[in-house]
Amino acid sequence: MKLSAIILAAGQGTRMRSRRAKVLHTIGSVPMLTHVINAASSLDLNQLVLVYGHDGKEVQSAIDDANLCWVHQQEQLGTGHAVQQAMSEVDDDAMVLVLYGDTPLIQAQTLSALIDLAGDGLALLTTNLDKPSGYGRIVRNAGGVVESIVEHKDATIEQLEIEEVNTGILAVSAGRLKGWLAKIDNKNAQKEYYLTDIVALAAKDKVEVKALICTDSDEVMGINDRRQQAAAERVFQRREVEKQMMAGVTMLHPETVAINGTLACGADVVIGQSVIFNGNVNIGDNVTIGPFCVINESTIGVDVQIQSHSVIDNASIGEDCRIGPFSRIRPETKLADRVHVGNFVEVKKSSVESGSKINHLSYIGDSVVGSGVNIGAGTITCNYDGANKFQTTIEDNAFIGSDTQLVAPVTIGAGATIAAGSTITRNVDAGVLELSRVAQKTVKNWKRPRKK
Ligand code: UD1
Ligand code: CA
Repeated sequence: MKLSAIILAAGQGTRMRSRRAKVLHTIGSVPMLTHVINAASSLDLNQLVLVYGHDGKEVQSAIDDANLCWVHQQEQLGTGHAVQQAMSEVDDDAMVLVLYGDTPLIQAQTLSALIDLAGDGLALLTTNLDKPSGYGRIVRNAGGVVESIVEHKDATIEQLEIEEVNTGILAVSAGRLKGWLAKIDNKNAQKEYYLTDIVALAAKDKVEVKALICTDSDEVMGINDRRQQAAAERVFQRREVEKQMMAGVTMLHPETVAINGTLACGADVVIGQSVIFNGNVNIGDNVTIGPFCVINESTIGVDVQIQSHSVIDNASIGEDCRIGPFSRIRPETKLADRVHVGNFVEVKKSSVESGSKINHLSYIGDSVVGSGVNIGAGTITCNYDGANKFQTTIEDNAFIGSDTQLVAPVTIGAGATIAAGSTITRNVDAGVLELSRVAQKTVKNWKRPRKK
């Protein structure tokens, strides 16, 4: 069977009160439309059609998917009209799956169950809501057979009591759909061509309308405003965090953690409160991440401890390192094993070999640091002359005294000692003590100035 998915995304989304197209607003940092495309694409699709409206250019440049067939709906005359625009692209012997661009939490398993149920007829995805207000209601006859969908604005007082609602997602054979779409009109409260009117037409044609009731109504949540977006974000993050916990990760405050991207954790990882992951993050066994850390696109080796308020961005951290609290590890940094980076230390585009320590208040940028190096508090690599960046090299077992400035390009030889408070502008040989500060002197009988 051929399968064509049609995603409706031409609506204006006025209630978002945004200049941006609604379907580009994100859930888990990814446009909601992308979530729908991903769910559809994980089925065995022959065709994916996107019906777009006035935001076409913006959506097209954000959603760069070569497999998408773009169909423009000039005027938003209703969901039935929108599907009709796409039908010239679809073969009669295909199965059509209709999706909404603003229903991003839909899961592929649900869609394939719906398609199976449709057979060569029509299957609706429905759900039961305590507050069904605004939705189309599923009208069943005394025998429980679905007879029609009535939109909220067209419903009688009795029909408004119905709690089973139309999610909008449906599967239907293309040939039959084309026939029914040709018969729908806009004689209703909203003067729109309702896709939902095909249900009554099917019933009239004695085609059984099946309904798959989605028990998790969160999955079919439609997003019309920012409150619903935030609620969907919470559902999405809860799912992501639950996957991690089921895979053995301890989450101390799961409701505060955000996972935007792909997080892979080893065994016995512990994640504290309000930690945010972005992009691809790989974490080894026995890693502990304290509260309020942000970790982007990074790899973290086994047994690493990251203490609170640390930011790690596009970096690779070796085994058994200790980072934070309040450390900032910036892109293109590579720490080998057992490296310590402490509070208020910023490391950028640098490699640090095993066992080296940068424990307090330092900036290390564009540097190559050997193993067993100790960098004292307040050390700064002066890597920038206002126009160009230069490299600092610190060889194995060097000791950099506190409050040192290393003016790059400069090399500190292996085992060298730099006295505290030095400004180093020339290369330093291995093994020596180097100091550049003024010798200490004493002025006796010194009188402090007095106020006149
Ligand atoms: C629709 C359903 C309703 C269902 C509800 C679920 C109809 C007539 N009603 O109502 O039964 O309970 O969704 O959320 O189908 N769109 C277009 N072009 C148009 C109109 C809409 O592409 O001309 C798209 C929108 O961008 C959106 C989707 O279709 O993604 C639904 O449109 P919307 O106006 O939100 O439909 P509802 O009135 O909510
Ligand atoms: Ca809607």
